[in-house]
Amino acid sequence: MRGLMDKIKKMVIYDADREFYAKLFPNSVSKKDLLRLRIMTEDDLPSVLAIERKNYSFPWEEDIFTDCFTAGYSCWVCEYNDVVLGYSLLSIAVGEAHILNISVDPNEQQQGIGRKMLENLIEVARGRAETIFLEVRPSNTAAIGLYEDIGFNEIGIRRGYYPAENGREDAIMLALTLF
Ligand SMILES: CC(C)(COP(=O)(O)OP(=O)(O)OC[C@H]1O[C@@H](n2cnc3c(N)ncnc32)[C@H](O)[C@@H]1OP(=O)(O)O)[C@@H](O)C(=O)NCCC(=O)NCCS
Repeated sequence: MRGLMDKIKKMVIYDADREFYAKLFPNSVSKKDLLRLRIMTEDDLPSVLAIERKNYSFPWEEDIFTDCFTAGYSCWVCEYNDVVLGYSLLSIAVGEAHILNISVDPNEQQQGIGRKMLENLIEVARGRAETIFLEVRPSNTAAIGLYEDIGFNEIGIRRGYYPAENGREDAIMLALTLF
């Protein structure tokens, strides 16, 4: 717990410093440096739902996000200049962590936001879970590229896991062992 608090403190202070310097010397800090991760609240839901609907053919509705809050899941947004650019949700139970959703505004993809959010979820899970799991559509090459790059391995297939235009689509199950 102490270690986690230190990490959070370090992250917040570091981000605050960067914001301070960005205001004084706008050209000295890149956009990537100014991305800020924070816990998602109900106030974020309009922005989160707008991104969710752009990214998925079968998007989550608001009640799924509020159920995640109620369940005490780890729910995050990534923002830049107070604008939400992405979000990520993680559940942890009996030593297993599960990535429930990770999503970046289509206009903001391929700038390192997905990687930053995934690394954060891994840090949140570390020490509280032995393994972190997720499911992904086989057609989702961008997400599979990110997960494999981070070190996730395929552990199986869930048949007909996702709704699809013509029935159902399988899910690839991936896992990362946390040490
Ligand atoms: C998957 C997703 C979250 C990745 O976010 P992102 O911010 O674009 O990813 P990053 O810029 O951090 O990329 C990290 C790595 O992912 C891989 N990657 C990202 N986009 C990729 C693409 N279009 N094709 C192939 N690999 C890709 C690369 O390995 C990349 O590393 P690199 O930049 O060093 O090449 C984003 O594409 C997204 O929101 N997709 C829609 C929602 C979704 O499908 N979520 C996953 C559900 S399982």
